[in-house]
Amino acid sequence: MSHDTTAINRQRQDFSNRDSVWLFGYGSLIYKAGFDFLERQAAHIQGWERRFWQGSHDHRGTPEAPGRVLTLIPVEGAECGGMAYRITPGQLDAIDEREKNGYLRTEIEFHLADGRHVLGLVYVADPHNAAWLGPASDEEIARHIARSSGPSGANRDYLLRLAEALRAMGEDDPHVFALERALRQLEDRTDAARARHGHMDL
Ligand code: SIN
Repeated sequence: MSHDTTAINRQRQDFSNRDSVWLFGYGSLIYKAGFDFLERQAAHIQGWERRFWQGSHDHRGTPEAPGRVLTLIPVEGAECGGMAYRITPGQLDAIDEREKNGYLRTEIEFHLADGRHVLGLVYVADPHNAAWLGPASDEEIARHIARSSGPSGANRDYLLRLAEALRAMGEDDPHVFALERALRQLEDRTDAARARHGHMDL
């Protein structure tokens, strides 16, 4: 599969006869909408967990030096909290473009904070996409994130803003919080080494 999933996503569902569509955000879509929405509220999905296992060539890295961003993996019994948006179908073009690096629109049921259950879209990058990086230790992922940046900014900011947003929503995500700790420790060590020697490569 090519990196660019835009064309596939446009053919996946036809929402032309619908007034609105629900979208569930679990990564940057939590803390940075960047599109108009009709409604927004916290929500959760069942059977999925966040992982920093997807390469980013277009936002938090470059084709030569991809960053590491989130995708979802299926985990039985798991629950993943995020932000649900009700949008007009016309907004999807821009979101397909933003999520084009391997993410496929997937239909999933969400549980909205107000008690409603709705069927909507989630952008999931699976292991068969060309930008997939897969598992690594927390220390390795933190190092990768610390050294990466791309057109949307530093990879570290993606992780730290996400961790902050999850905390503000009362979400516990052991994977994200472990990486946040690993990144902070790495940055503290790097700062201390810089103070001692003037410079240290990550
Ligand atoms: C999402 O936020 O729902 C998808 C992954 C991302 O854009 O970070």
